[in-house]
Amino acid sequence: MDLGLRGRAAFVGGSSQGMGRAIAELFSGEGADVALCARRAEELERAAVAVRTRGRRVVTRVADLADGPAAIAAVEGAVAELGRLDVLVVNSGGPPPGTFADLDDAAWHAAHELTLMSGVRMVRAALPALRKSDAAAVLFISSFTIRQPVANLVLSNSIRLAVAGLARSLANELAPKVRVNTVLPGNIRTERAVELARARATAGRKVDDIIAEASRGIPLGRYGEVEDVARLAVFLCSPAASYISGAVVPCDGGLIQAPV
Ligand SMILES: NC(=O)c1ccc[n+]([C@@H]2O[C@H](COP(=O)([O-])OP(=O)(O)OC[C@H]3O[C@@H](n4cnc5c(N)ncnc54)[C@H](OP(=O)(O)O)[C@@H]3O)[C@@H](O)[C@H]2O)c1
Repeated sequence: MDLGLRGRAAFVGGSSQGMGRAIAELFSGEGADVALCARRAEELERAAVAVRTRGRRVVTRVADLADGPAAIAAVEGAVAELGRLDVLVVNSGGPPPGTFADLDDAAWHAAHELTLMSGVRMVRAALPALRKSDAAAVLFISSFTIRQPVANLVLSNSIRLAVAGLARSLANELAPKVRVNTVLPGNIRTERAVELARARATAGRKVDDIIAEASRGIPLGRYGEVEDVARLAVFLCSPAASYISGAVVPCDGGLIQAPV
């Protein structure tokens, strides 16, 4: 199936590693130019070198997407360099783990900037270019925790629901020009997943034990790979998904238990 991405351009947030990088690689493999963005310049450049081997143009922006002016400058600068924008993937790092009792106002404000406001600003900055595309799409990389809260992740459990409201509202407000969808990754084998397992590790329970135990709770019996998410993400952003908007699609090996 031809996804219709040849010659198009995509900005992928949080793309020096993990799901963002896999999504950027797949866009490039499908013939799209891509903009990569992350905070650490060296890691970002390493990712750019890898993505470039797929053959299309790659531009990079070093920025903290939780910082308003930096997020706007990253998107606007990349659009200017690429000369167009058809796809925006709203993605960054997840908020830190913690229970309600652990977290003060500063932690809540920081998570709000990182997880909600980064998306608000990226969409705002991307819109003028997206409106010029004949196949514009925005994709939010969220989490299964919006349907099934996870212990010790109260920031993610809470603030991502606001992102879901934003995505749903944008699917109405930006239609029919721009499609807006959301992916809910389950447990995906990335740095972030290992970091969360490490936070739950104790003297008697190693990171591998925690991952093995979590895998037993997933109907498909394993953590997802970044490519599992990338295939779904790139499809939803492509002209091949031209009648899909406002959708919230899990990629979780059957982890979410809610029947609808
Ligand atoms: N992995 C999972 O199992 C899972 C499940 C559900 C949801 N999620 C969510 O999906 C998203 C991506 O997860 P992942 O596992 O792919 O993460 P990851 O492996 O930790 O990668 C995160 C990427 O985002 C960049 N990043 C982090 N904070 C940033 C910021 N403030 N500004 C710009 N770039 C930033 C990182 O680079 P720098 O550090 O250099 O900035 C990195 O390239 C996160 O929101 C995560 O919570 C993950």
